[in-house]
Amino acid sequence: MITSNPFAELSAIIPSFAMQAYVVAMFLLVIGGTVLDMIHKKSAQYFFENAKKAEKEAKRTVSGGDKASMMVATVTSEVLTSSEFQNPRRRLSHLFTMYGFIAFVASTVWLIFGYTSADAVAPSWLATTWHLGAASLCFGGYWFWFFIRVDVVSEGVKWHDLRKADMFIVSLLLMATFALLWSATMGGGTLNMLLCILFILSSTFLFSTVMWSKFAHMFFKPAAAYQKRVTRADESRENLPGDFDLTDPAVQKRFPDIPEYMGKNPSYMGHGIRRERPHHY
Ligand code: HEM
Repeated sequence: MITSNPFAELSAIIPSFAMQAYVVAMFLLVIGGTVLDMIHKKSAQYFFENAKKAEKEAKRTVSGGDKASMMVATVTSEVLTSSEFQNPRRRLSHLFTMYGFIAFVASTVWLIFGYTSADAVAPSWLATTWHLGAASLCFGGYWFWFFIRVDVVSEGVKWHDLRKADMFIVSLLLMATFALLWSATMGGGTLNMLLCILFILSSTFLFSTVMWSKFAHMFFKPAAAYQKRVTRADESRENLPGDFDLTDPAVQKRFPDIPEYMGKNPSYMGHGIRRERPHHY
């Protein structure tokens, strides 16, 4: 099963050109949803105005070369390795979900455009990538859904309590789950057809709700991560205070209430938020 191309079997019922038209339609829906989202929330306008404001507050100039190397660092760190996540379990689950999704989508497009005509046989590694991509997405996504989400882990919300904000993760998971079940029941008559319809419905939901879901974060987060690097390099720091060493006499001179309340040699108490795992519901 894992090495066979499920779309080749599907082409007996749905013609190849219809599958290809569906993929193009989903692609256009993602672009349209992202653009409408930016217009509606004015996020691009906010982003550029905020970047201009930060530029005015900059304490040092960042050269074009520095900016280029920050772009490379953003891609190799925040984008490729999800380095923004402080929680290692959350980071790992995001990596499984992200790379699973990329492998699943890329191999779907390749299989549908390259190997749905009568005489074309897909290489087994490509069909395997499709199955492993869906499995990786399911692994990372269900791990996140049942065990990592902050409202479930820390706020006592039940895993089945759905909200609008869950549209993205739920449709992502349903799409990958139905895809695997559909492939596993190939040749199984009505059940297989039903799973195929559910796969198409969930993927249509995922790609047509970009304007309202968290889907577009995959385009916005890299830009935000890069901008954050710039604000640290030019020392505008989004108007946030620096990381002060409270024992430094220069810092104590600047903030005289530190020695007054904490003594001349205040101990380092660490980040309060990391002191214990949140379990207070
Ligand atoms: C390419 C496919 C990607 C997929 C499938 C994906 C998937 C996800 C999922 C399922 C979540 C949890 C959403 C939720 O709270 O319901 C998430 C959150 C997040 N993703 Fe991604 N992601 C992708 C790309 C990226 C990229 C490229 C970045 C950054 C450069 C990124 C950064 C983040 C961050 C920082 C969060 C946490 C956001 C928050 O909790 O508000 N993701 N992602």
